Amino acid sequence: MASEQQYLHAHFYDLLDSSRVDPADASVRFFLHYALRAGNALELGAGTGRVTLAIAGQHIPVWAVEPSPVMRAACLVKAAQQPHLYPFFTLLPGSAQDVRINRSFRFIYASGVSMHWTSEDQWHAVLENVARHLADDGIFVVDNLCLTPPEHNDSPLAQVSQARLGEIEYRTYFGRTWIDKQRYRFHTRYEAVYQGVVIEAYEDDSIGSFLCQETCYGLLKEVGLQVRAAYQDFSFTLVSDTAEQVILEAGWS
Ligand SMILES: C[S@@+](CC[C@H](N)C(=O)[O-])C[C@H]1O[C@@H](n2cnc3c(N)ncnc32)[C@H](O)[C@@H]1O
Repeated sequence: MASEQQYLHAHFYDLLDSSRVDPADASVRFFLHYALRAGNALELGAGTGRVTLAIAGQHIPVWAVEPSPVMRAACLVKAAQQPHLYPFFTLLPGSAQDVRINRSFRFIYASGVSMHWTSEDQWHAVLENVARHLADDGIFVVDNLCLTPPEHNDSPLAQVSQARLGEIEYRTYFGRTWIDKQRYRFHTRYEAVYQGVVIEAYEDDSIGSFLCQETCYGLLKEVGLQVRAAYQDFSFTLVSDTAEQVILEAGWS
């Protein structure tokens, strides 16, 4: 499924976990930390602007690239409520591999996006594009990598969150079915429930994959970048043998 056809449930996205949209959330603070040092930023796959708008809120010019028109719409609706952010926030259609911006950035990041780059060719195209836009002293950060190949256990659709707004309960369900060693099918279902009855529902299937950090090291090298640090969480804990995810920070070799 093309990126543009995913995330049709954009209006449910921020309800997945209300703490994630809080500027005090660890992942938001993690990316903000880099942006504050860099003074400008480019986000690849900005979604509803969860992180981007927090950066703009600190008066740091931030560019956001997002392929899904409905995610862009959700992001713009949020931005439109905050006119004080307008000078600092630029939202572009496009993908991480194709977008061209006639400027360079001291901080480029991808938060919760890399599972959408499902082949090494796609990763290579993204990293070439990162290199094209990264300033001489720039830093690139990408999360959602793995330390070792993941277990290939399928997980059936199961409820992962619920949020109540007034008398409506919004529920999110996730499931995963592996297609081959690299790729899985990610199932999502979003429901709005009123008085025990589902009054709105969306189902979405997308293809995802995990890239192991060792492979990423090699791909970064191909475009002239090298890893500066590897963390296992958004509190800057260095990667250990038990890491469930890897977040890489890279710069020019
Ligand atoms: C899980 S959301 C994460 C959104 C946001 N970065 C956050 O942290 O909340 C993933 C986003 O990546 C976008 N996306 C998918 N493929 C992409 C690509 N090739 N380049 C850039 N963004 C992509 C999706 O449209 C979606 O909005």
